[in-house]
Parts: sequence; structure tokens; C-alpha cells
Amino acid sequence: MKNTVLTFAQAKEKGEKLTMLTAYDYSTAKLIDEAGINSILVGDSLGNVILGYEDTVSVTMEDMIHHGAAVARGAKNALVIIDMPFMSYQTSVYDAMVNAGRLMKEGRAGAVKLEGGVEVCPQIKAIVGAGIPVCAHIGLTPQSINAFGGFKVQGKSEAAAKKLLEDAKAVEEAGAFAVVVEGVPRKLADVITRELTIPTIGIGAGNGCDGQVLVYQDMLGMFSDFTPKFVKRYADIGEVMKRAFQAYIEEVGNGTFPAKEHEYSVDDSVIEGLYDSGSKTS
Ligand code: KIV
Repeated sequence: MKNTVLTFAQAKEKGEKLTMLTAYDYSTAKLIDEAGINSILVGDSLGNVILGYEDTVSVTMEDMIHHGAAVARGAKNALVIIDMPFMSYQTSVYDAMVNAGRLMKEGRAGAVKLEGGVEVCPQIKAIVGAGIPVCAHIGLTPQSINAFGGFKVQGKSEAAAKKLLEDAKAVEEAGAFAVVVEGVPRKLADVITRELTIPTIGIGAGNGCDGQVLVYQDMLGMFSDFTPKFVKRYADIGEVMKRAFQAYIEEVGNGTFPAKEHEYSVDDSVIEGLYDSGSKTS
């Protein structure tokens, strides 16, 4: 069944958990979609796990459109949410609308996601007003990593916790259909989840959120540069891939690949004809 923003609203109402994973390409999106996920996030984490940057700051609109459109072609039932990259919406409401529109038209998104609380509410309001669903993202927002001074859990002091609750309420009021809550203490995420009527999607925010999201390379053991505490490894695909690559290298080296079953055949007369006197070889 096709997932939409209504699926999110109904899940919150019924107390059913929502599932989300990231994807950045057609084949992976197809696999995740076929597994029955509610939503696929084309996260700007592609800067880290696909493009090899240290953070998400350098990710461009073109990157998001290119990967977003590939994911959209692979996802038949999941709601595809594409991240708005750094400086594609912070600069003005006008920029936010133009760029959200591009992610919908060129990236074929079902919704967009942007980071921030009270300060980005004018942008959320305007984008939602244009008929584009917005997923908000509060807490440890990676685009602000330079302002935070690193990947640090947010909302640990009373003042910071109050500000996060205020942000959560503000993005709901501005019209967001869901909010990703990243890197905050479980008890604070629980309060935010209780106080909101839109679903919270947690990542490093404990089990009390209305749904969960993970970066798929993290949960499959395919990205080893940095593994946060909140990641659960569901498989060690990185090791499986490495072993397969090694087997291929070995078999090509020792001549056991390709084997008979991987070869195409041709009638012997064709080959014999190549040596007949006067035959043309071009
Ligand atoms: O970019 C991303 O993948 C994200 C998730 C980690 C929530 O924003």
C-alpha cells in the first residue's frame, strides 16, 4: 500500500510505529521498499556515506536531486522524503520555496525535510502553503555541526530541553507533518512525543518516539568511519562484500572465473570461417 502523509497521521493516532531508512540509489531503494518500509529518506547524510565528506555541509541541490530521483524510481510504496541541503533554505523563504519545488519537480519527492526549529518556521509555513509536505528535524541537526562544536547530544540542560520542546511545538504549528528528533535524551524525546500531535521519528532519541530512522549503511555494517552509540547493526554486509570482492580478485587471478557457465557460445563454423582463405575479418 502506498504510504503518504496520511499514513503518518493515522499511525500517530493509532499508536502504530513508523519505519524509515535512508537510501541514495535505485537498487537499494527498491530493496527497502519491497521490505515494506513506510518511508525512505534521501538524507543529506549522502555527503558522508556516498560522497565521502566529513560532514553534510558541502552537499548541493544537484546532489540531492540526482540521488533523490534515483530513489523515487525505485520506491513504489514508500513515502520518499528528500533532504534540503545546507543553505538551500536558511537564506530566505523565497530560496526555500524554490528549492523545495525543485526537489518535488526534479527529484520526484513526496515530501522534503529541513533542519531547525523556531528559526525556520517561516520557511516551513511557506513550503507547506505551496502544497509541499515538510518533515522537520530538530535536536542534533548535522548541518549545524560547526555551531554545535561537534556531534553532541542536544537538550541536556533545562534551558536546552525547553528550547527543543519549543522548537518541536513551533514546527508542528508551522505545518510540518512529522519531525525527526536526533541525538536527544530518551526522556526528553518522550516528552516531545507526548506533547505533539504529529509523529516524532527518532534517531538516537530512544524507544519512545512514534517511529525510527537509521542510515542504511550504519545498520548493515557498510560504513565504518564513525558508528554512533544509537546504531544497531542488523547485518555485517560490509564484511560479506569485502569477502566477495576478495574471492573475485582471487578467481580472476587464478583463472577460475569466468567458468564455462558464464561464457557465450558460437557455432564452430563461424570461427573456422575466420581462417578460410579469402575470408574477410572485418
Ligand atoms: O541525512 C540523514 O540521513 C538524516 C537522518 C540521519 C535523520 O537526516
